[in-house]
Amino acid sequence: MSPKAKAGKKAKAEAFEPTVIVFACNWCSYSGADLAGTSRFQYPTNSRIIRVMCSGRVDPSIIMKAFRNGADGVLVSGCHPADCHYINGNEKTEQRVKFLKRFMAQVGLDARRLHLEWISGSEGEKFARVTTEFTDTIREMGPNPLTTNDEAEV
Ligand code: FES
Repeated sequence: MSPKAKAGKKAKAEAFEPTVIVFACNWCSYSGADLAGTSRFQYPTNSRIIRVMCSGRVDPSIIMKAFRNGADGVLVSGCHPADCHYINGNEKTEQRVKFLKRFMAQVGLDARRLHLEWISGSEGEKFARVTTEFTDTIREMGPNPLTTNDEAEV
């Protein structure tokens, strides 16, 4: 690779700002995001928050669709264990995320691009911290290879 091409690649990497999709449970994490905003906790603007009625509604196919459509990272957040308003939706979410992380490795996606976190409505600071740390991790990893590698298919 020529020095000019290397410099261009480095500049592109430095300019990279990830797109992070956050699936937030209506009853807890979405309120946590709201509290982070009203409390003026700072977190990156990279997050696109999608409110769902329960983290258990986030089907693995929806997560993979987000990656196919350009998400660089996906954060799924729900109620703490035993707090799910639909009894055990978050337990199912935990199993699905574990399964999906194994699947992601098969299609060339680093499993760290998917993260699950329990965030309650009173944890605005935690919402801001988790989204900031996750966005930083994704920024370090670079763009989603499924959207930059034409040969990758899901
Ligand atoms: S209602 Fe929040 S995770 Fe199920």
